[in-house]
Amino acid sequence: MSERLDLQGRHIVLGLTGGIACYKSAELVRLLVKAGASVQVVMTEAAEAFITPVTLQALSGRSVYTSQWDAREPNVMAHINLSRQADAVLIAPASADFIAKLAQGRADELLSLLCLARPAERCGLLVAPAMNREMWAHPATQRNVAQIAADGAHILGPGCGDQACGETGDGRMLEPAELLADVVAFFQPRLLAGRRVLITAGPTFEPIDPVRGITNHSSGKMGFALARAAAEAGAQVTLVAGPVHLPTPRGAVERIDVMTASQMHDAVLPRAAAHDVFIATAAVADWRPASLSEHKIKKEGKKVAPTFELTENPDILAAVAALPQPPYCVGFAAESENLLAHARAKLQRKRLPLIVGNLGPATFGRDDNALLLVDAQGHAVLPADGSTADKLTLARSLVAEIARRLEHARA
Ligand code: CTP
Repeated sequence: MSERLDLQGRHIVLGLTGGIACYKSAELVRLLVKAGASVQVVMTEAAEAFITPVTLQALSGRSVYTSQWDAREPNVMAHINLSRQADAVLIAPASADFIAKLAQGRADELLSLLCLARPAERCGLLVAPAMNREMWAHPATQRNVAQIAADGAHILGPGCGDQACGETGDGRMLEPAELLADVVAFFQPRLLAGRRVLITAGPTFEPIDPVRGITNHSSGKMGFALARAAAEAGAQVTLVAGPVHLPTPRGAVERIDVMTASQMHDAVLPRAAAHDVFIATAAVADWRPASLSEHKIKKEGKKVAPTFELTENPDILAAVAALPQPPYCVGFAAESENLLAHARAKLQRKRLPLIVGNLGPATFGRDDNALLLVDAQGHAVLPADGSTADKLTLARSLVAEIARRLEHARA
């Protein structure tokens, strides 16, 4: 599978200010470059006390700027030239002092100067605070952060946890991978701004006794990718997840963990009407054991294998689609054969506007896939050229398709 280049063609000015988190910025440069971005590093004098420009030059492939008097710029206007080329300015780490400077609009060195000089309407300012917890909690810092946010800056984090000073609390800079995800999300179109999206994901687990149960191979990857893509598109996401080992996507994602189909049903049904979209990616077990053995079923003394009576689970998607005012319902059909015919049958049986088919056993747990979109009018494949793509790329395309249909319905 080819690497996804989420930042291809983006030019990012990465500003480092004084803080021990500067060591993480080296890794951040690598991740940004790996994602396809070109990165121009600018450092304050205090940042140079923590990490050398040589390291960042080697990782970014560009010489670092540290002074507004840099003679490499023929017009001696590094602050103008650098900010005009950038698609975003990311300050990571952003010290308490630097945030105070931004709040006041001061411009006495290159980095604050270029933040002030940047064309704000087409070059976003992303700020990743990094400081001791007392400094972060101080009313002056909170006031300054609120001020720069009101002025249009996007505040990334901070995280919570162990700090270099030995204390524990809020103020840590986010990890490089988290910052990368936030920068990627910043560049996604806000196609679902103001919308609420409910997603089921993963398998369910139907217990037989305290140690055994019925489940399936669903990894939850498609549902989690959709949750991430919907959050990137500006939606408020509720993610109801069966037992999976996946991290919750960053951003506005509320996760509810469940085990059984009944629990998933009980988590979804009361919430469904408050959402604009319901995407059912979960591989819900169709049946569960009719009774749960209180203790482990033992082999000892049994001559014949036990048999289990099964009872049908509620159909969550059909129940949501049958609500008086249902959200826009998108079903998934994982099949092993005759994908189009089965998907079309499910579309009608569950009374859905859209169903997404894939060939299940070939794709469970895999990172790349192809989807078949089926509605009353016809069908289409994603990716449109008939190839395969990773699940996040597919999820973004599907989110764009759903957004288009919602707009169409509203018009
Ligand atoms: N689904 C659900 N609740 C169930 C069963 C399925 O919400 N109890 C949803 C799935 O999340 C998926 C769609 O319905 O979006 C199709 O599920 P699938 O199991 O493939 O369809 P079934 O109706 O169970 O048909 P079959 O098992 O015969 O393929």
